[in-house]
Amino acid sequence: MSKRVLAFDVYGTLIDTHGVIAELEDTLGERAQAFSQRWRDKQLEYSFRRGLMGAYAPFSDCTRQALEFTDRALNTGLSEGQMDRLMATYAKLPAFPEVAEALARFTRAGVTCVAFSNGTRDAVDGLLGQAGLRDHFDDIISVDEIKRFKPDPAVYAHLRDRTESEAQDTWLISSNPFDVIGARHAGLHAAWIRRSAEAPFDAWGGEPDLTATDLLALSDRLG
Ligand code: 2OP
Repeated sequence: MSKRVLAFDVYGTLIDTHGVIAELEDTLGERAQAFSQRWRDKQLEYSFRRGLMGAYAPFSDCTRQALEFTDRALNTGLSEGQMDRLMATYAKLPAFPEVAEALARFTRAGVTCVAFSNGTRDAVDGLLGQAGLRDHFDDIISVDEIKRFKPDPAVYAHLRDRTESEAQDTWLISSNPFDVIGARHAGLHAAWIRRSAEAPFDAWGGEPDLTATDLLALSDRLG
């Protein structure tokens, strides 16, 4: 049995946050994609700002407040009801297509897999459950347990505490460069899932330990 622990980021890595675009298109037409990107960027900005301010709130608050901001910024005039429906869709976002097969490979190889997210345990549990992925994970580890957000070093230390793993055996798997850099800064290994060939990595002078185009490509190298 491998001692290795793989900690999978959820939003953007396992689950496609732009799965809201189809619903947005009904109301916003060709502005849907720009809206979705702005919403996601603002959601993360709110988590960073709340972290710096020491004003933690559940990630779903960041998501809802970012949705309201995006509506104001792009002057899209969404109603409360439309925003409620978008939030409900956010709880049913789809997984990226290769994720289930890749996780099954890791499970067969005896690798410990955990979900590690800014989302609360209940939110992540529901999201992974409806996407048919929950059974692949030994545990869900949420930043909500310590009321901090990624990339605070405390959350990566919490991940190690909860998995009882040494830094050299612990891998963060994420498509979010800020998460990869945060994990490396905290002494963990990190793999960057570069789902788009156009996706840039931050020019911070450090590189991920490993870069893969998706989780199946990752399983060829880490499984
Ligand atoms: C997650 O923690 C950062 O979206 C990200 O799931």
